[in-house]
Amino acid sequence: MKQSVKMIVGNWKMNGESAGLAEFEALAARLKSDPCRVDVAICPPATLIDRMRRIGGPAAIALGGQDCHAEPRGAYTGSISAELLVEAGCDLVIVGHSERRQMFEETDAAVSAKTAGALRAGLTPIICVGETLAQREAGEAASVVRGQILGSLHDDLTGRDWALAYEPVWAIGTGLTPTLEQIAEIHAAARAAMVERLGEGGRIAPILYGGSVNAGNARDILAVAEVGGALVGGASLKATDFLAIIHAAELALVAADAQG
Ligand code: PGA
Repeated sequence: MKQSVKMIVGNWKMNGESAGLAEFEALAARLKSDPCRVDVAICPPATLIDRMRRIGGPAAIALGGQDCHAEPRGAYTGSISAELLVEAGCDLVIVGHSERRQMFEETDAAVSAKTAGALRAGLTPIICVGETLAQREAGEAASVVRGQILGSLHDDLTGRDWALAYEPVWAIGTGLTPTLEQIAEIHAAARAAMVERLGEGGRIAPILYGGSVNAGNARDILAVAEVGGALVGGASLKATDFLAIIHAAELALVAADAQG
């Protein structure tokens, strides 16, 4: 991943019946006619991956899974392996999203195993971490994130394309966001933990921010030091909203260029 590029990833979660394809079509058409420097990806429900691949073609939008199983194949009813995601047309996969950690009781060790599975198949893993409101109020945000990073990363990440996503659980889908100072503080702590876990190789992967990113706050958030992009839920479902966030990322790049 080039440091001079921001990564904007949409997570459609369990939304986007085929009606949502019109939004994807509009997004793909706009990015084809008006190419940008930002790396754009959508992680739709698995049922839409192949249809999006056909619409987007070899376009400016990468496709990703929202989760994968650690094993390549086998008797795991309801699960999708990283290999199956690749075959469907994915380049990346989200692992360890807090909704999976909380609702499906995924542990750091499980997330690490899924990360290894993603790398084995050739996918770029986006590894999610983030504290709950109770943990933040107890002053534990940085230590919780450090612990999740130490437990969820995998040795195989060294030298590979991957990203971390800092997503405070209390900011997801709530309209609440941390202050820019709080984002900067946790991203710095996350970087330190990535280096602690992987050595110098931990300096390269971008750190995305996720949690109530929208057209109104994206520009400020994307200008924070160590914010390498955004993982966007609700605001990724409508092409106009998502395009506004992509535009904000472009402006952040232009501002960074101007600063030298
Ligand atoms: P949100 O979701 O943008 O709707 O808060 C972010 C996420 O869960 O990745």
